[in-house]
Amino acid sequence: MPGNKAVAYREPGVVEVVDIDYPTLELRDGPGVNPANVGRKVPHGVILRTVSTNICGSDQHMVRGRTTAPSGLILGHEITGEIVEKGPDVEFLDVGDIVSVPFNIACGRCRNCKERKTGICLNVNPDRPGSAYGYVDMGGWVGGQAEYVLVPYADFNALKFPDRDQALEKILDLTMLSDIFPTGFHGCVSAGVGVGSTVYVAGAGPVGLAAAASAQLLGAAVVIVGDLNKERLEQARSFGCEAVDVSAAPIPEQLEHILGEREVDCGVDAVGFEARGHGSESATEQPAAVLNSLMEITRAGGSLGIPGLYVTGDPGAATEAGKIGSLSLRLGLGWAKSHAFTTGQCPVMKYHRGLMNAILHDKVQIAQAVNAKAIPLTEAPTGYQEFDEGAATKFVLNPNDYIRAA
Ligand SMILES: NC(=O)c1ccc[n+]([C@@H]2O[C@H](COP(=O)([O-])OP(=O)(O)OC[C@H]3O[C@@H](n4cnc5c(N)ncnc54)[C@H](O)[C@@H]3O)[C@@H](O)[C@H]2O)c1
Ligand SMILES: [Zn+2]
Ligand SMILES: [Zn+2]
Repeated sequence: MPGNKAVAYREPGVVEVVDIDYPTLELRDGPGVNPANVGRKVPHGVILRTVSTNICGSDQHMVRGRTTAPSGLILGHEITGEIVEKGPDVEFLDVGDIVSVPFNIACGRCRNCKERKTGICLNVNPDRPGSAYGYVDMGGWVGGQAEYVLVPYADFNALKFPDRDQALEKILDLTMLSDIFPTGFHGCVSAGVGVGSTVYVAGAGPVGLAAAASAQLLGAAVVIVGDLNKERLEQARSFGCEAVDVSAAPIPEQLEHILGEREVDCGVDAVGFEARGHGSESATEQPAAVLNSLMEITRAGGSLGIPGLYVTGDPGAATEAGKIGSLSLRLGLGWAKSHAFTTGQCPVMKYHRGLMNAILHDKVQIAQAVNAKAIPLTEAPTGYQEFDEGAATKFVLNPNDYIRAA
């Protein structure tokens, strides 16, 4: 049986490459595995040899010690892989298929899955609705920043790429289908982006850049990206977005300069609870800063798409309220403007097939927009560190050398 190298969270600021067991069609005990999931049989699962697996801002929340993730948790929820083994209940996939795996794990059988709300599946996480690979409080499904990984309910979850050679050729684009491309797209769809919209995306990390590229794909007239990281703002400009430095002049003033008015049609939060304050307060964290500013700058009747993550427990929060995820929201403003809010995990499956086709037919250059860069799995600690320092790069781990150009 092959070995299995994987990336583990060790302690705040530290990840390491470790040897773990080769997966079997059963969820076994390990760091972060929910006791009620130990021994769970997975005849509906496949084992993948990982083709690509990306480092995400969501991983950083754990690695920065801002969650209750236990030491030893195997990371990785953005998985693309080749099927090397399939369980007896897998009917429609085969060994040799290359598939994209939504980061949400979904059973395909519960009420929410039937309503296409796969980000809040009721059957995969014993503690609460919603699950993901390699993530704290998500049921304990082992992460995919590894050479091999188990994917349950494979017929339902996996998206097979139509052609193997074409898939490997476009892998740096297709690898974004497991999370950030659908997530950014969902942020825009839920913010009501359409032809001619003016859009403000808070955050120029990979999710914000993916949202900006999605807004363009959806036909937005103007896409404005805000951040305080100059290199990331430059990356947004590189594919035709306007950029706003939130540490400089007030955002409405900068919008007026770009648009001739102080509001946009659609607002997207691609930052989450580790948001910095604006203007002179940008040196400190203000978890509600983005949400409050989106209510200020989104037109009355507009919608806010909120893919940015907000947690129910944050041991690193500056305030007692923050420790349980309570924010100082100016909801009255959103109410007065009849805003609609959409939060939560992106239901990846709603979007991944369409976005795959957009990639395969060259309708979007997502790898270029997020500046994808492949690195060996063994260099994951460096990737995590550079990403944490704010590199304008989406790091893609290449555990089995499928990505030849790396
Ligand atoms: N909902 C989902 O399904 C889903 C999926 C993937 C990621 N996420 C979340 O999306 C968020 C973004 O992910 P990422 O990988 O791009 O993370 P990231 O940490 O790389 O990017 C966040 C960016 O926000 C910037 N920022 C901080 N305060 C800001 C402010 N007030 N205004 C504008 N920009 C500000 C930071 O400088 C950084 O560049 C994270 O919270 C992540 O957990 C959610
Ligand atoms: Zn992710
Ligand atoms: Zn379900």
